[in-house]
Amino acid sequence: MESAIFRYFKVIRRFHSKPSLFRNFIPLTKDKYPHLKRGPYTKLDISDIHFFQSILGVNYVITDVEELFSYNVDWLKSVSGYSKCVLKPKTTEQISQILSYCYKRDIAICVQGGNTGLVGGSVPVFDEIILSTSAMNKIISFDKLSGVLVCQAGCVLENLMNYVQNEGFIMPFDLGAKGSCQIGGNVATNAGGLRLIKYGSLHGSISGLQVVLPDGKILDSLKTLKKDNTGYHLKHLFIGSEGTLGIITKIAIQCPNASKYIIVALIGLSSFDKVSKLFEKMRCEFTDAISSFELMDSEAIKCVNQNIGLKCPINNNLEFYVLVELSTNHNSTTQDLEIFLEQSFAEKLIEDATLADQPSQTQSLWKIRESIPESLLRFGFVYKYDITLPHHYFYKIIPEIRNRLSENPFVKAVSGYGHLGDGNLHLNVAATEESDSVISALEPYVYQWTSECKGSISAEHGIGFFKSKYLKYSKSDLEINMMKKLKNTLDPKNILNPYKMFP
Ligand code: FAD
Ligand code: MLT
Ligand code: ZN
Repeated sequence: MESAIFRYFKVIRRFHSKPSLFRNFIPLTKDKYPHLKRGPYTKLDISDIHFFQSILGVNYVITDVEELFSYNVDWLKSVSGYSKCVLKPKTTEQISQILSYCYKRDIAICVQGGNTGLVGGSVPVFDEIILSTSAMNKIISFDKLSGVLVCQAGCVLENLMNYVQNEGFIMPFDLGAKGSCQIGGNVATNAGGLRLIKYGSLHGSISGLQVVLPDGKILDSLKTLKKDNTGYHLKHLFIGSEGTLGIITKIAIQCPNASKYIIVALIGLSSFDKVSKLFEKMRCEFTDAISSFELMDSEAIKCVNQNIGLKCPINNNLEFYVLVELSTNHNSTTQDLEIFLEQSFAEKLIEDATLADQPSQTQSLWKIRESIPESLLRFGFVYKYDITLPHHYFYKIIPEIRNRLSENPFVKAVSGYGHLGDGNLHLNVAATEESDSVISALEPYVYQWTSECKGSISAEHGIGFFKSKYLKYSKSDLEINMMKKLKNTLDPKNILNPYKMFP
């Protein structure tokens, strides 16, 4: 094993010395945050590897240095652990055996789904083992009458979407990361996404979960019932627990019927006041047909154009753009929306708009919205804030941050976009590289500001590694203490995703 560690560092150095190959060197988290101390966990030795191989087979225990690299680095290329071992179980029973062994041996574990998380939670901080759920990709059952899908945690969201679509259903949520993220990761982060406004949060659609607890016990709560009030609703503990309380292995999720008509409009507006009025009017007019109401500011549209090459199909000189999606069974809705947009244009509420009701066209409008995160990352480094705000404050922080960073040489874009229909703003600052001057202008300012507005410092991405020290801005001491007690009850040795969530 020692030679494997050595080879790992060689790979890092190789990337470091060839910046053109790997534009931004990714420092090890332990070097970037030198105050962090590795917990008193057992260091892996060859007998541990042999044990894992005896359970999973050699092909499902990865120790090859080059292969380990992508599991150790997060999507934002912002943090990197130096795990020497990735385990890829296929069954709940294998996970149970692994956890029971690690629990006895005090071996720390980081659970990883699609590794698309945006808060540094899905990669190890030091040398924790990575338990990847990507080989747990079986669909177990789908009941057309109830709409309940039961599957393993490693199913990729897009595959599930395609599967239920063939049956006339949809998944009750959708994310830009659908091609890589896994349902287990979605549940573990309580992912919100693009359709929460209509279908609600995962707390409403998950009917049951199977979870392996840190000591290896299997908690089988894989209910497919819509109603079940028999005592505490334990499944909710694991929804949004970010791999700190147990490993989610199977999921039962309620899928809505697909609507007959999906209509998407991209609308340009000249002020945020007008965006608010449009939202109010559309809520009145189209009520629960609205399945998305997404905001993009001019900076976001510019980045998608410049860095991804996607052109805005309407006037691209406006301050704000809204992408609205309607999902309905009424065949008159396209026409109703056309009339609504014409009236809004005549009243000078909106400046420009385009509408699509054919899948290829609706997808190309969605592509603009879904490409924003990638387009910002192309500048080099992104500081991401994912906050919920009362509507009145929704966009106010963006000009403030632009002001604070106006002279900063590293900053390329300050953009606000997100799920306006759910009060969820994504404030992103894209820079050529990471720098103290940017971070000190942003933190803790953004969190203080959000807390003063009675918002949430994490609307949908979670706390993970990046935000743990700011948890206090959204949770009281009593709440944090209760969370710690829960963690201690379920994971007294703190082997599951240590260094995350808690300050
Ligand atoms: P990972 O990133 O692998 O893990 C995330 C966390 O969950 C980690 O703490 C990990 O330890 C834990 N975890 C993973 N699997 C399990 C398991 N089986 N059991 C227990 N713990 C587990 N998020 C949103 O909420 N809304 C969005 O609209 C959205 N859009 C995105 C768009 C892009 C382009 C990208 C890159 C990300 C986006 N995200 C969004 C963030 C991310 O995709 C979600 O957090 C997603 O749910 C993570 O799933 P994953 O499988 O990649 O999990
Ligand atoms: C989104 O809504 O696009 C995602 O949450 C990702 C991001 O915040 O960039
Ligand atoms: Zn989002």
